[in-house]
Amino acid sequence: MFFDPREVGMKPEPFKHSVYSALVVPRPIGWISSLSAEGVVNLAPFSFFNALSGDPPCVMYCPNAVKPGTGEKKDSYQNVQDTGEFVFNMCTWDLRNEMIATAEHAPASVDEMAKAGIEAAPCNNVSPPRVKASAIALECKHIQTIDLPPGRNSQSHVVMGEVVGVHINDDVITDGIVDIHKMELIARLSYLDYAKIESENIIALKRPDNVVHPSEQK
Ligand SMILES: Cc1cc2nc3c(=O)[nH]c(=O)nc-3n(C[C@H](O)[C@H](O)[C@H](O)COP(=O)(O)O)c2cc1C
Repeated sequence: MFFDPREVGMKPEPFKHSVYSALVVPRPIGWISSLSAEGVVNLAPFSFFNALSGDPPCVMYCPNAVKPGTGEKKDSYQNVQDTGEFVFNMCTWDLRNEMIATAEHAPASVDEMAKAGIEAAPCNNVSPPRVKASAIALECKHIQTIDLPPGRNSQSHVVMGEVVGVHINDDVITDGIVDIHKMELIARLSYLDYAKIESENIIALKRPDNVVHPSEQK
């Protein structure tokens, strides 16, 4: 089938739900911590998230819609506009329940890390705390927010940040590389589905021209 979302949206017949979450998969989860202007900790998952560039290292996430019933922008959007800082925390399989708990639409006055029983750790170059149990955390300074074209029912914003601090748990460093075999990674699939990336399913592929990029050298 083919459809033009500008004409029929993302839920044409025969789909029961918006299909978009099933079309670009798997996705990483950016578990974003930030502080409100009043200093309240916020933590929320974003699968419209990715690394943007390596030099300088930059990441993006995309808050959409508003908090149900309030008409307010999501805290992860508003906080970064107000304070200019956020942290990417890596979500792994063992943290999936805590991650889901932080998707709750809590009022801005609620510390979502504490509410989900997640231990915080301090950052070095930004004020928001990081998730202590995350194997990797990236401290980010806000670069720019781009408003995407208005949607049928929501407005999305691409929030970009430059990485100004990198935390890597020493336990996942082996012989000079970040050892993904030591992390049970989680991927966002479609609808309510997620996948665990298990060590036996990880393979290395050499590129055809045999040129190895410096960042890929082991
Ligand atoms: C795995 C997962 C991925 C999500 N990805 C996004 C996303 O990319 N953009 C978005 O606006 N909301 C996303 N959400 C929903 C937000 O996490 C949710 O609206 C959250 O309450 C926002 O919190 P905040 O108001 O504290 O920022 C996602 C939820 C889950 C569970």
